[in-house]
Amino acid sequence: MMWWWLFLILSYIVAVVLFHVYIRYLSSRRINFNSKSPPVIIEPWYCPFLGPVLSFLNLEASINKWRAKYGANFTLLIFGKYVTFVTKYVDIKKYYHGTEEMLSLTKAAQILLGSAYPENQYMVEYSAVPYLQRILTPRYLRHMALNFEIVADDYFNTKNGQFWAENGDETVVDLFEFMYRLIIRSNSINFTSFRVYKNHVEELIRLFTILDVEKSIANPITYGLKKRLGMKSDRDIAWEQWTQLLMPDIERCLKMIENNIEPVDGDIIYETIKYAKEELEKRGQIFTPRLVAFLTFSTFVPAQVNTYTTAAFMILEWIRHEHDEIGQRMKEEIDHAPPKGEITIEYLNSMEYVQACIYEVIRIRTDSPVSFRLAGQPVPLSNEKFIPEGNIVASPLTRAEDLYLNPEKFDPDRHLTPREEMKADPYRALPFGRGRHPCTGERYVKMQIKMFLIQLSKMCKMELMPESNNFEATINKKQLAGLSRPTKPVFIKISKREL
Ligand code: HEM
Repeated sequence: MMWWWLFLILSYIVAVVLFHVYIRYLSSRRINFNSKSPPVIIEPWYCPFLGPVLSFLNLEASINKWRAKYGANFTLLIFGKYVTFVTKYVDIKKYYHGTEEMLSLTKAAQILLGSAYPENQYMVEYSAVPYLQRILTPRYLRHMALNFEIVADDYFNTKNGQFWAENGDETVVDLFEFMYRLIIRSNSINFTSFRVYKNHVEELIRLFTILDVEKSIANPITYGLKKRLGMKSDRDIAWEQWTQLLMPDIERCLKMIENNIEPVDGDIIYETIKYAKEELEKRGQIFTPRLVAFLTFSTFVPAQVNTYTTAAFMILEWIRHEHDEIGQRMKEEIDHAPPKGEITIEYLNSMEYVQACIYEVIRIRTDSPVSFRLAGQPVPLSNEKFIPEGNIVASPLTRAEDLYLNPEKFDPDRHLTPREEMKADPYRALPFGRGRHPCTGERYVKMQIKMFLIQLSKMCKMELMPESNNFEATINKKQLAGLSRPTKPVFIKISKREL
């Protein structure tokens, strides 16, 4: 037994030495660029194996430490990949104005997510960004807004949800779970079809939860190993089922396209299939349902990472501020909403105070997310430096506390005139990104959260349960992706309001 231990320790030491030699001598060739400007400092951060992973779990502290040591922009070698962190203001600004060719989100996503993202081979050529730009137009958004009403109503009252019938007029739920399901329900009607929503929404939520991209990134070894051994994982099976779920709509829409039949308004899956067909034809490829499955799946992922968290925290702030000025101002906009079926995008856009609360929730819950892109060309930086092509370029999305007055305080007015504190540095105050790469889903998601607040306030009363009073203490500020979230359920009581 002792020999085994000795063998393991020796192997570890040999591996560490080899890694050291590789970093110090072989990889140092990387800085021999034939250029008059030097590349941004390439200082391999040296602590093999567990080190980088552990540091990532406390990203903010690590970035501050590295920044103090290497300067505002620095490059780390992490598991064989050069990752350049950009934290200097003028360079962050350049980062947000780089073109997709220069700083590609999709190429970085393909490298970082790998097969943890279903059909990830489509990421580069068939990026979901232009697809989302095509469907999130005012025409479709109008339809989507009305769909939120249908979903909230169905969820509580009809066969689709039967919330009251199953739970009674007063029940306790885990708020984050509740919002997760409600948001996916509404995304299913908006990004797949009414048929999928009406008949298969529970199945879709189950499949999406198995396909959870975050969990797969955190556990790539098991998944990768199963793949290499030719074994089907639960994710592979779920992915096949996801595609199968869409097949009747795909067949229907292909026939419509063939016979030149126009879709009814708001038939999003028709638009998706048409888009997939056109894109494949442009590249001389035949139609495949797999691309449609990839595109629809991509529209759900941001909900998993950010939307349900923002929506749940909005409700918590609403409960917390019920008896003060913040709560009253939210209530005013919510209560003044036109009746069911008559809410317009214009009204939703006019809800500026609620919108400021959304920005404030995102600001307060932004602890460690990082924006990643791949340098497709050398990226020029200040001080005659540049990021070499092929590096992953990262920019931390921070709370930029120094920009704000009393940054710990939930204070929506800081986002409104006359204060507009974020204007002091719009490239570090980024609820939805900036420049050439803002969030494609921003208008959709703001509309979604506002609509749900209006609907929920009409249908139920929500109170925080005493056992969850200390939910702040359970928040994980070191998420691998997205906003900070509680690690334990946050229980709220939902009571039916008579309409
Ligand atoms: C509260 C929810 C959300 C938040 C806080 C959020 C935030 C952000 C941020 C900060 C970025 C910029 C990332 C960067 O700097 O690289 C971004 C990009 C993006 N978001 Fe969102 N997002 C949300 C919801 C959504 C939704 C619902 C969708 C789609 C339906 C979406 C689609 C996208 C896409 C496609 C990009 C990349 C845009 C590009 O690089 O051109 N997001 N989001």
